[in-house]
Amino acid sequence: MNRRAFLCSLSASAGIIYLPTLSASIAVTPSEAAGPFYPVVYPKDRDFDLTQVSTSKGHALGEVITLQGLVSDTEGTPIEDAMVELWQANAAGRYRHPSDKSRAPLDANFQGWAMVKSGVKGGFKFKTVIPGSYQANPLWTRPPHIHFKISKPGYQELVSQMYFPDHPLNDSDLLLARHSAEDQQRMIAKRHNEGFFHHTIVLAKVAL
Ligand SMILES: [Fe+2]
Repeated sequence: MNRRAFLCSLSASAGIIYLPTLSASIAVTPSEAAGPFYPVVYPKDRDFDLTQVSTSKGHALGEVITLQGLVSDTEGTPIEDAMVELWQANAAGRYRHPSDKSRAPLDANFQGWAMVKSGVKGGFKFKTVIPGSYQANPLWTRPPHIHFKISKPGYQELVSQMYFPDHPLNDSDLLLARHSAEDQQRMIAKRHNEGFFHHTIVLAKVAL
């Protein structure tokens, strides 16, 4: 079995239906700064489902989505046991963070941050809602996006952002615009079905 067929079989068994185009070397996912809304203290509730919190039976407001992903190295080899952190605004565009002074409402049922490990096939999954857009300043509205931090010993830690395909605010986002067209595509998730997105994250190995 060649490498592509092998990876296809791994992806299929993990329920993952997106496979990056393989070449001699896959480009590392572009990085971004963590920004001001990374958790000050890790909340106790960190499971993959951001649409509910452990202290309430309610459900987060907004459009619920499944976000499935794959962590691989630049050779396309899946990376298991990588720590995958995600944080994002709620559906109204408000972060659960003391530095977010927005007037948009908080959502008591939205977890806002989660931490999972990639599985043996490099896969991970979150249940969340599409984040709202928000004003970074009076002239700049950020498109819906999700922040990621991925780490594993032996690989360079990556902090990045993921965007949603075809969102009209993507074209005017000042952070996304700093990246090449190719890198922008690496930061935009793939939509497979209504409410189902996939995002591939490629890490660089630490040079020995
Ligand atoms: Fe953000």
